[in-house]
Amino acid sequence: MKPVTLSTAFITALSTLTATTVIATPRQEPITPIAPVRITEPAKVELGKQLFFDPRLSMSGVISCNTCHNLAFGGTDNLKTSVGHKWQAGPVNSPTVFNASYGLAQFWDGRAADLQEQAQGPIQANVEMAMPHNLAIEVIQSIPGYRKQFEAIYGDKNVSLNNLTDAIAEFEETLITPNSRFDQWLLGDNDAISVAERKGYELFKSSGCIACHNGPAVGGTMYQKMGLFGAYKSSSPSQGRFDVTGIEADRYQFKVPTLRNVELTYPYFHDGEAETLGEAVDLMGRLQLGRTFKETEINQIVAFLSTLTGERPDIDLPHLPASGINTHRPEPFK
Ligand code: HEC
Ligand code: HEC
Repeated sequence: MKPVTLSTAFITALSTLTATTVIATPRQEPITPIAPVRITEPAKVELGKQLFFDPRLSMSGVISCNTCHNLAFGGTDNLKTSVGHKWQAGPVNSPTVFNASYGLAQFWDGRAADLQEQAQGPIQANVEMAMPHNLAIEVIQSIPGYRKQFEAIYGDKNVSLNNLTDAIAEFEETLITPNSRFDQWLLGDNDAISVAERKGYELFKSSGCIACHNGPAVGGTMYQKMGLFGAYKSSSPSQGRFDVTGIEADRYQFKVPTLRNVELTYPYFHDGEAETLGEAVDLMGRLQLGRTFKETEINQIVAFLSTLTGERPDIDLPHLPASGINTHRPEPFK
């Protein structure tokens, strides 16, 4: 990802917004609206989209990025933990790819700096697509329709891992969800959210959720320990940032997840243990704030969280190019 491009796009989009569509005064809040995306390199975005949907990047020939990050839904698989090559269970829950570009780093433990670095992980990961990088490159290289696009965009018909992941990342940067009801309210439309939803937001702020879940993505800006007011018991082997840094203080520190579109991305937490949003809110209150919410309070916060569902991009299924005569064939049971 190129943070510079993104922030320029963000500022331009925001100023267009302010100039043309916003009549009311935007509110000053710790959550800020998501700006509509501005596509500067459409051919690269299209190539990235094809690769995102192409199961030939997996050894089995049946798993694509979209398998676990379903763009027709919330950008996740809605499973407790993901299922990958040969039906293997992964160790953690699949986070949404919508608005992922806002994250300070990628993965629950932040082990990839940006979307481009992240995209290298799943192709090769044994429990995901199980496709060695050299073979993935060979497959894409053997498909004439891809070779042509790589040459036109990168000036090189030799496909590289760098260019392949660059295209995927470029596509992912378009996966943002602006214009949620909450954003409409932030931009000055008083009637965009109900009284109960507004109460939920006030509680979200006054009780302290906002300290960790803030910014345009309502998360993604920091790492925090899961279980500040009591240990969180999990069956998942993940130890969060500790797995990356080996520093004791980082044990069970996870990237604070985005709460955008959270009503679509169940089940919750890195281990997918919380099935409903109500359960997740209740646990957050007790474990992160030392506070037990009443049922009405939980309902209000859940109501507020549902106003964070934005407009998902309209995505036409891409037309994938035909395999070449020498394209390595899928091996579903290898
Ligand atoms: C088998 C299911 C599976 C497949 C296939 C898969 N992912 Fe993921 N993805 C996951 C899981 C699980 C995680 C979380 C892993 C972790 O944090 O350790 C994840 C994390 C991510 C993240 C990080 C999001 C965040 O907020 O931290 C991005 C971005 C992403 N995947 C994009 C992709 C792309 C692009 C592809 C295709 C090249 C892909 N994924 C293929 C399951 C999958
Ligand atoms: C001290 C920081 C902190 C505070 C305060 C906090 N959270 Fe969280 N929140 C996190 C972290 C870290 C996670 C990820 C934990 C994990 O997956 O194990 C998380 C996860 C969540 C999730 C699950 C999202 C998903 O996609 O899995 C929800 C929902 C949530 N928080 C809501 C809230 C609400 C509501 C409050 C206030 C009652 C709150 N949080 C307070 C840090 C915090």
